[in-house]
Amino acid sequence: MLRGLWPALKDKTSGSLVFLVVISTISIGLLYGAGLMWGQHTHISVMEYWRWWVVHLWVEGIFEVFATAIISTLFVRMGLLRVSVATTMILFATIIFLGGGVLGTFHHLYWSGTPISILAIGATFSALEVVPLLVVGFEAYSRSKIEHEMDWEINYHWPFMFFASVLVWNMIGAGLFGFLINPPISLYYLQGLNTTANHGHAALFGVYGMLGLGLMLFCMRGLTDVHQWNQKLLKISFWSLNIGLAMMTFLSLLPQGLWQSYASIKHYYAYARSAEFMHSAVMEGLVWARVPGDIVFAVGVFAFAIFVYQAFTSKQTSSVTTTTEQLETP
Ligand code: HEM
Ligand SMILES: [Fe+2]
Repeated sequence: MLRGLWPALKDKTSGSLVFLVVISTISIGLLYGAGLMWGQHTHISVMEYWRWWVVHLWVEGIFEVFATAIISTLFVRMGLLRVSVATTMILFATIIFLGGGVLGTFHHLYWSGTPISILAIGATFSALEVVPLLVVGFEAYSRSKIEHEMDWEINYHWPFMFFASVLVWNMIGAGLFGFLINPPISLYYLQGLNTTANHGHAALFGVYGMLGLGLMLFCMRGLTDVHQWNQKLLKISFWSLNIGLAMMTFLSLLPQGLWQSYASIKHYYAYARSAEFMHSAVMEGLVWARVPGDIVFAVGVFAFAIFVYQAFTSKQTSSVTTTTEQLETP
């Protein structure tokens, strides 16, 4: 990352945005170190504390800053976002994610002897986490409608579509499904049920999976001949991945989670996780309901893989422009 960003870092005009991307990139790697803080005989409450450093501070802290910074930087370059909005949002995101994100970690320490006041702090700060990316998304959405007809559309259509889906899944997966399980009263009944798997899948692939694919396409513009790109495969891939993920969550994981939640509230928590309940006809039926979504999703994965293979192996007709050149003439 540093090798690629170094020339941009030395260019004083794009300073603060690129610098934030560098810091968050380094921090993502460092944060995994928290996973070394416990051993075989560590008390479970201490272990839980550090485990959530890895999970929560990675997905809801450092990586959210990285996602906001990188998407804002690219949207600025694409001419979709004003520098002032981008910089304000990234700083806002950094303050919330890094200041509040640390305190937000406490929304996970539910059954580890954590006092209620600390849980309340955790719930409050974690609720603020989705705001910055949403603001960036709305700004970009309104600008994209104006700029629709420009050359920009041809050059950046698919990377932009993937970034747009990041913003949508951030709203659904992290915002909606995260909020569903986030209030203390929810966590009291729902911790570790399928409502969590539902949130984890929608947020993790929806936000960071789509982001990875979008960034990959963005880089591929400089490495392959864009005019040779198989648009049809990309289109199939984009829609299959998104529709497949939606089917996976809405047809299987969410209903499973809600049915389990009902059992947990009506009877008791252990019952909602018991073998008897998990292997009941309804739950097993809902597990099978996952197959159609998984198939649609898999089609998207294969289409993307074939697209990448074709893009790198097809003969180049026109000279390949570098990403920087394309950025300067959007
Ligand atoms: C894109 C951002 C996010 C990603 C990728 C993400 C991912 C995940 C994953 C994978 C887990 C399960 C971890 C485990 O059980 O070991 C989880 C748990 C959880 N997440 Fe998120 N999350 C995100 C944002 C949020 C937000 C914004 C909220 C709050 C509004 C939230 C609330 C929760 C809660 C309360 C749990 C714990 C549920 C439980 O213990 O059963 N998440 N998240
Ligand atoms: Fe969290």
